[in-house]
Amino acid sequence: MDISTISSIKNISFGKGAFSNLKKVIKERQSIQERRSMSTEFAIYIDNFFESNESMNNLFKTFENTEIHYIDSSKEPTTSLINSLRDMHLAQNKTPAGLVAIGGGVTMDIVKALSNLLNNPGNAEDYQGWDLVGNRGVYKIGVPTLSGTGAESSRTCVLINEETGLKLGMNSDFTLFDELVLDPDLTKSVPTETFFYTLTDAYFHCIEPLSGRQRNLFADSYAKMGKSLCEEIFTLDNIKSDEGRTKAMLASYFGGIAIANSMTALVHPFSAGLSVVLQVPHTLANCLVMLAMEEYYPIEHRVISEAIEKHEIRVPQGICKDLSDKQYNSLFDSSIIHEKPLYNALGDEFKKILTKDKVIEIFNRI
Ligand SMILES: [Fe+2]
Repeated sequence: MDISTISSIKNISFGKGAFSNLKKVIKERQSIQERRSMSTEFAIYIDNFFESNESMNNLFKTFENTEIHYIDSSKEPTTSLINSLRDMHLAQNKTPAGLVAIGGGVTMDIVKALSNLLNNPGNAEDYQGWDLVGNRGVYKIGVPTLSGTGAESSRTCVLINEETGLKLGMNSDFTLFDELVLDPDLTKSVPTETFFYTLTDAYFHCIEPLSGRQRNLFADSYAKMGKSLCEEIFTLDNIKSDEGRTKAMLASYFGGIAIANSMTALVHPFSAGLSVVLQVPHTLANCLVMLAMEEYYPIEHRVISEAIEKHEIRVPQGICKDLSDKQYNSLFDSSIIHEKPLYNALGDEFKKILTKDKVIEIFNRI
């Protein structure tokens, strides 16, 4: 794989308590805007899970020129949501100086997309695809409160166009955050099972590129670091200890970079099929697929199986048993459509290997 230029995030505050740096990070940007005689208004988008978090609210009260918007992260972001948020900001007659995302993948993707749209003409759906964003977006700061999705370091933000049914990201260097605040204390309140499943997303973002045919040393190096951190966390007695949460935050970041500069292989395409046809959440779907793929990933299958057992994680069983022919056909279609990662995993012959019978046989194990 040839990569000529690799874009990266400028500043990262990392470590326990890093969240208290957010005020300083915003203030520095506001000072730059002030010197340019431009708007200093910041908009903070935050997962509504934190709406009643007293220490966060007290901190926000000390911020100048900032407005808070709560996000319902139970719904996947749509292009129409991004268009309406853009309209809301434009109705105030000024483009904000900066945006902050505090939350998981959904909140981060909303802010990444909004940032692009505020500085580009047209609507969000015009930028779903690869390298379609022409202008740098509004300055944006990411503060993840969940570790694993890699949304904090990826160059995409996935949106659903409800009119066409298209689920696709704005893949662009401009989608990358300008700054990150990585504070492992922010993931303290995540339930253990959610923490586990989300962490395994980072693991798959690392092991899939490493198992592929289209490799590059840049992505491989980040993938190796992320993989090794995940495996260290799995061996801990408590994956949510200070050590576990700190390593998970880095593993997520490394996994996001690995995947942004490389490609998934077998797990994510099958997982996408499960999510599209049976609405299984992404991180759970990944694990279910891995548990059915021992023949392709014997070592990683063992790592995940042992981690599930050690940490007493509940795994739903029999999800794909006794489905209708129509559902099996849809599972096949919505997995096999991801040709690039499947080619990455198995080469030119992937269609001969992943016949309809074979794909359904794999799903039947789930
Ligand atoms: Fe993923």
